[in-house]
Amino acid sequence: MSFTLPDRFETERLILRRYQAGDGPLYYAAGQKNRAHLQRYEAGNVILSPKNEAEAEAVVLDLSDEWDQRRAFFLGTFAKAGGEFVGQVYVGVVNWETPEFEVGYIVDQDHEGQGYVTEAVRAVVKLIFECLDAHRVRLQCDDTNLRSKRVAERCGFLREGHLRENHRYPDGSFSGTYLYGLLREDYELG
Ligand SMILES: CC(C)(COP(=O)(O)OP(=O)(O)OC[C@H]1O[C@@H](n2cnc3c(N)ncnc32)[C@H](O)[C@@H]1OP(=O)(O)O)[C@@H](O)C(=O)NCCC(=O)NCCS
Repeated sequence: MSFTLPDRFETERLILRRYQAGDGPLYYAAGQKNRAHLQRYEAGNVILSPKNEAEAEAVVLDLSDEWDQRRAFFLGTFAKAGGEFVGQVYVGVVNWETPEFEVGYIVDQDHEGQGYVTEAVRAVVKLIFECLDAHRVRLQCDDTNLRSKRVAERCGFLREGHLRENHRYPDGSFSGTYLYGLLREDYELG
């Protein structure tokens, strides 16, 4: 077994693929467009980090290198019809010995509420178990992020914990963190 994810795969409506040379302009445009949309829950997302197209090209090449090193797998999701950027799914390595991985996701603001993230995450979770031989996949979300919570639960993740008020927003309000997990046996039982 190669213990990596396929460079490209499809779902009913989406193409998911690793980033590649030449993606800088689209990555920069997607970050600029979604800056406000991502501000509350994903202000630290790598898609917001580049300040211009050249920096974005360097970022996508870094993400591609991370993939080759099997440190993290960042997938861009694109509409099969039209090819536009729909979102991003992140697969982080928690521990290769367990093996345990982490999933994160964002959707483009114009593609929210259409089931794309659930469709993408279901496909990614399947591949994490099949290709990376995972024993466990984890996911975390802010306890006020109801859209993310619903994605996690629709994809079969079980809530294993709740950290209360462990995050403070700039306006002084607090939120907590839901901890989700999915074991191979949960996944296989469907
Ligand atoms: C969290 C986030 C990724 C969720 O995105 P989303 O678009 O709500 O999730 P999905 O794409 O799975 O869409 C699900 C919704 O589409 C609806 N939907 C519409 N058409 C659908 C279709 N054809 N198939 C399936 N669902 C469909 C579902 O009913 C569901 O609505 P509901 O949540 O009100 O029940 C998104 O809100 C986001 O990017 N937020 C900012 C960043 C963020 O918080 N990331 C997660 C950090 S943990």
